Amino acid sequence: MSFTVAIDGPAAAGKGTISKAVAAHFGLAHLDTGLLYRATGRKMLDGMAPLEAARALLREDLDRNDLRTPDVARAASRVAAMHDVRAALVDFQRAFARRQGGAVLDGRDIGTVICPDAEVKLFVTASDAVRADRRWRELSGTGHDVTLEQVLADLRERDARDAARAAAPMVPADDAVRLDTSDMDIATAVEQAKQIITRALEAAGGR
Ligand code: CDP
Repeated sequence: MSFTVAIDGPAAAGKGTISKAVAAHFGLAHLDTGLLYRATGRKMLDGMAPLEAARALLREDLDRNDLRTPDVARAASRVAAMHDVRAALVDFQRAFARRQGGAVLDGRDIGTVICPDAEVKLFVTASDAVRADRRWRELSGTGHDVTLEQVLADLRERDARDAARAAAPMVPADDAVRLDTSDMDIATAVEQAKQIITRALEAAGGR
């Protein structure tokens, strides 16, 4: 059967960790769609035209180990505002979402544009301060020399661009369940997501 879990939300809200954990728990495939835009942004920084980069993306481009930098995050958000770049990436994401055995996709527009008929939609948020602190810890832990203030300013700039763009703006789907993780540790957030997905799976006829 196909069963899609769409997990959207702003930067560093916890989507990635929740998505990986629930995919492993329920035996679903997982796609971090942010990597598609990061890999496209990375190629743009390397000198390629964004549309050409998006069209030429290969599976292995998503495994590059230089995608989780602040520069690439900024470039990703810039290419992600381009209609033609988004259009070039739609088919791959839709096919992934509807693969046999079920899938979890996390991003900004999964519940609204990529898979509006997903069986479960979550919109994961957290306060700006909590998100900046999480991302600052991640980046510091991987050797990036950044201040908390820089990280906060970057997140706010990127969220503003992602929410204001004409092409598939970041917005909760009307039928998304909101999960505010500001006051939750990750285990609690994952537990809540699991409960929501379990209910949807039961409604879909069990597995
Ligand atoms: O990990 P983080 O939440 O910081 O970002 P990400 O999910 O890797 O996404 C990087 C950028 O890609 C975002 O700021 C968006 O501009 C863009 N993106 C998008 O437009 N649509 C998606 N489905 C996923 C990411």
